[in-house]
Amino acid sequence: MEPVTAGAAEGDWRGWRAAAEAALYGPDGFYRRPEGPAGHFRTSVHASPLFAAAVARLLCRVDEALGRPAVLDFVDMAAGRGELVTGVLAALPADVAARARARAVDLAGRPAGLDHRIEWRTEPPERITGLLFANEWLDNVPVEVVEVDSAGVPRLVLVRADGTERLGEPVSGAEAEWLARWWPLGAREGLRAEIGLPRDRAWAAAAGTLARGLAVAVDYAHTAGARPPFGTLTAFREGRETTPVPDGSCDLTAHVALDACATACALPGARLLPQREALRALGLSGARPPLALASTDPAGYVRALASAGEAAELTAPGGLGDFGWLVQPVGIADVLGG
Ligand SMILES: C[S@@+](CC[C@H](N)C(=O)[O-])C[C@H]1O[C@@H](n2cnc3c(N)ncnc32)[C@H](O)[C@@H]1O
Repeated sequence: MEPVTAGAAEGDWRGWRAAAEAALYGPDGFYRRPEGPAGHFRTSVHASPLFAAAVARLLCRVDEALGRPAVLDFVDMAAGRGELVTGVLAALPADVAARARARAVDLAGRPAGLDHRIEWRTEPPERITGLLFANEWLDNVPVEVVEVDSAGVPRLVLVRADGTERLGEPVSGAEAEWLARWWPLGAREGLRAEIGLPRDRAWAAAAGTLARGLAVAVDYAHTAGARPPFGTLTAFREGRETTPVPDGSCDLTAHVALDACATACALPGARLLPQREALRALGLSGARPPLALASTDPAGYVRALASAGEAAELTAPGGLGDFGWLVQPVGIADVLGG
């Protein structure tokens, strides 16, 4: 793709960051729609209640590490329709639930019928003592896309509302620095990258709200040395992957450079691990029940089999099991072990 200056009016072209911001979060944006994210794709939260139960166990470990505080915070960051926080509250032992202060943070409005114990906010609270958990948030924080031109220069990719792209200015300033440090591109024409700087800042701000406890970001991720050569920008609509068009009709997402987010926090002790390891450390196993159970307790066997199937989906290689967990303790030990 070559830089073009003639053609459509200048105002029609925007960088992907501004275009996605309007398409996802503007007044008619994709995430303002009544059906919510679950109407278009399945996250781990929607895949199985086992995920919320595992997060509840993680919250219990954080509670122990904090010395069982009088008020234990749980913040569901980028909560969608509050499905995770609802599941976590339901899975907590009564003595922990009695001390839990549950908050859901999302740009969308409070869903009807949400448990009255859950506070709904558009910004994370300050001074959290507990667990802040962000499942599939950072991949939806809009980023600039860049592409190497025929002279070997990385340029911003500009896009129109119909998805047509062209190249803009060479990447410069803090974005160029981020690119050089975290996603250096070769000189080959057509190589692409996404500049994760807004995600680094978003994560540093969210994790920075912890007074003590644990912040966890879970997402499609890549790390230095294994960046995808043509980037990962894509879209989802009604359960199907589709061409990214910033017109509010689809989710726009790109995998997250979680290693860069970890470093942006300037807090010691951050760790990256795949979801399959994190969930196993929280006691989730995809093991099938013993066949003998089928004759002694057929209903129990069917239930255990369904549960094993769901655990297998959450930990599957090539699927949800490959998601990255960025685990950021603040003033407590690493409660996931390792
Ligand atoms: C892919 S959905 C994930 C929903 C839920 N966490 C789950 O795993 O099912 C991403 C959510 O992030 C929310 N979001 C994006 N940027 C946000 C921000 N800066 N503050 C709060 N919520 C945000 C969107 O509104 C959307 O509900």
